[in-house]
Amino acid sequence: MVFSPDGNLAHPSYEIINVIGTGIRRIGYWSETSGLHTGEDPNPSNSSKGLYGVIWPGQTIQTPRGWVFSSNGRYLRVGVPLRIGGAEFVSRIEGTEMFGGYCIDVFTAALHLLPYPVPFKFIPFGDGKTYTINSDLLHMITIGVFDAVVGDITITTNRTKIVDFTQPYIESGLVVVAPIKKLKSTAWAFLRPFTPMMWFVTGMFFLVVGVVVWILERRMNDDFRGPARRQFVTIICYIASLTSILTVEQLSSPVKGIESLLISNDRGFRRGSFAENYLTEELNVHKSRLVPISSPSECEKALKDGPANGGIAAIIDERAYMELFLSTRCEFGIVGQEFTKMGWGFGFPRESPLAIDMSTAILKLSENGDLQRIHDKWLTRSACSSEGAKQEIDRLELKSFWGLFLLSGTVCFIALFCYVIRMVYHFSRHSNNNLEGSSHSARFLLFLSFVNEKERKDAKGEVIL
Ligand code: SER
Repeated sequence: MVFSPDGNLAHPSYEIINVIGTGIRRIGYWSETSGLHTGEDPNPSNSSKGLYGVIWPGQTIQTPRGWVFSSNGRYLRVGVPLRIGGAEFVSRIEGTEMFGGYCIDVFTAALHLLPYPVPFKFIPFGDGKTYTINSDLLHMITIGVFDAVVGDITITTNRTKIVDFTQPYIESGLVVVAPIKKLKSTAWAFLRPFTPMMWFVTGMFFLVVGVVVWILERRMNDDFRGPARRQFVTIICYIASLTSILTVEQLSSPVKGIESLLISNDRGFRRGSFAENYLTEELNVHKSRLVPISSPSECEKALKDGPANGGIAAIIDERAYMELFLSTRCEFGIVGQEFTKMGWGFGFPRESPLAIDMSTAILKLSENGDLQRIHDKWLTRSACSSEGAKQEIDRLELKSFWGLFLLSGTVCFIALFCYVIRMVYHFSRHSNNNLEGSSHSARFLLFLSFVNEKERKDAKGEVIL
């Protein structure tokens, strides 16, 4: 060591220590000339090399980004629902204590956006083989078992009375799902765009227009353009309507939406879902008319069986579950409109600052597109909406139109037949003398040139050769 003449250290090195609870741990040294160093090599160019890492409050080696979340030195206990079905939302990675799924990914992504580290641990609620009730899970926050709840937790008024929710990270209102079948394309599909009355009025209209055109055309041909334009507009409307009927409207179901379900029995709801409460309390549906369903496969079977065989006519559940359910089951579909606007959020104890910070983080995830990316990773399946399947629906087939072809073909044939009869009649009437002795082929050629020539009439209005 080098001392100055007054007895003090000439180039003092200070020891940098990390205080952990009641203990200390050396990180390195600092001196004015060498900066940070380990003590062994006070060379400034190697100054920060070999320093020991800092252990921050919360037993983490991650450098804090600001305010430290106080969890009294322990991990945030995050309850996650493990239930039958819905592995895409929350599931335990087999053989580990780790969890995966859409809700888990959104939570961890949001947590990483917080300006401070929050050490946490997922704790399962339920065994993954039966159903769990999210309200029971949220109750665990109020009795201090969990510090947060992460999962497919719908934000409802009753639940906001006991916990604080973050902003919703996904919209998921209630919808009705029922079996749908494609309307068979028949030979008379082209009649569907208009009702019988519309066809009748259209027919009458064409007749009236025809008469008007005929009256006008007798005098001057130019006036023909008005009705033609009207016909054109009618044709365009018809085509638009026909296209929609032959594409979108091909799917039909006896259940038209929640209204038609309210007057019938046998509708299902997912066991443990808040949908049961909603149906009984808000829509006054008697419990005896509701069938609880425990898993997606049970739901599929009940819908296929139908009410006649002890199944259900439709299931009422949240859009998020149903979109996933429908993505691989093309024989069912959402009927009618979504009839509640709801969303899923993460639950925290009342007044928790984390709920507010996580809300901000969720908004950031939404704005930077990460929320959508996580959604696509877990919840987008395209089995029923692949381009091939879609094209099949969009393309119009001959069988939808052969009735139309038959009709117009028959009319053409009759018109042509009448015309030929008339021609033959006029031809034979006026050419008797000219054709005597001529061969069949000569007669036929003369007939063709007669047909080809412009019609001429004599003073009495008779057609002449
Ligand atoms: N999203 C539903 C609920 O929170 C899950 O069953 O009740």
